[in-house]
Amino acid sequence: MTAGIVSVGSYIPVRRVSNDELSKNLDTSDEWIRSHTGISNRHIASDEETCAYMATQAARVAMGNAGVGEKELDFIIVSTISPDYRDFPATANLVQNELGARNICSFDIKAACTGFTYGLALGRSLILSGAVITGLVIGAERLSAITDWKDRSTAVLFGDGAGAAILRGGSGNEDIVDSIMRTDGSGADALYMPTGGTSTPFKLGETTESELFLAMDGHRVYDFAVRVNVEVVMELMARNSLTSSDIDYIVPHQANYRIILAASKRAKIPLEKYYLNMGEYANTSSASIPIALAEMDSKGLLKRGMKIITVGFGSGLTYGGNYIVW
Ligand code: ACO
Repeated sequence: MTAGIVSVGSYIPVRRVSNDELSKNLDTSDEWIRSHTGISNRHIASDEETCAYMATQAARVAMGNAGVGEKELDFIIVSTISPDYRDFPATANLVQNELGARNICSFDIKAACTGFTYGLALGRSLILSGAVITGLVIGAERLSAITDWKDRSTAVLFGDGAGAAILRGGSGNEDIVDSIMRTDGSGADALYMPTGGTSTPFKLGETTESELFLAMDGHRVYDFAVRVNVEVVMELMARNSLTSSDIDYIVPHQANYRIILAASKRAKIPLEKYYLNMGEYANTSSASIPIALAEMDSKGLLKRGMKIITVGFGSGLTYGGNYIVW
């Protein structure tokens, strides 16, 4: 039995914000952002473009591309760290209702920028267990809502959007062959939300404005990201007896051009193997890999039988990846 990706789709918010536009209200510049991150633009959601809305739209595109109707869905997994509601209900539940999918399971996972790769691994496991046949794995983020727009060290990095994949079990050639899911919780404070949880609740008059938004130690995250990028890609290749010349594309989490450049040098894998689009969308956390896959698909770059590795890394600190036969 195989469990493969039969289609992908994405939703990108209409509003596009360039580095120059961002620089009007922030002490930064197009030159600094591009040279330090590879980012030129990001798309920012309107009030109507909620996390669930974008997730649903991306799901509809993927369902349309595969000819899969809502009655065929058995599960919906949404990966997000910027859900419509802070704790509950899950954004996946809102997507289930919007799609009109009945008698299915739906739940969110919170593995940040690694979330889509975790989602593919979980969806595959559900299918291989025999419990389900067809489902959606979605990465959706409205990071603009949890970003401090006065903090130039983080505001320039993030964007909004959603991407979705339809997974189906059967005897097709397409298959999520192997997955890695890992965590190093000792780095939990390298990238986190300082307030709003039950251990650090929001306190009127005490919580400062900056504590309402995500906090990041960029250098710690950078070093970790380069290291685990190499670890995941090399391990997936070794476990599946692959060399880099066997791989058609590596689709990494689109955090920062320099992270990928350093990882490609360290792994001795040509940069051309890595599909990069952070220039247009910035870092959309768990949405970045499915948005990249959907863009590659719409450009006609993905052909059945191709060998693809995804690699995610982010808050948690979490990391992981998938070896996929397309
Ligand atoms: N514009 C202009 N100057 C800036 C900006 C900005 N937007 N941000 C920082 N600077 C300044 C700093 O103040 C500093 O100035 P100083 O030398 O006078 O003190 C200088 O630029 C260099 O700052 P650094 O932080 O050392 O810059 P660095 O080259 O390390 O780049 C960056 C910072 C881009 C954040 C990098 O550390 C990085 O990419 N880290 C990983 C971040 C990441 O990918 N996070 C997401 C992970 S995925 C997830 O889970 C969401």
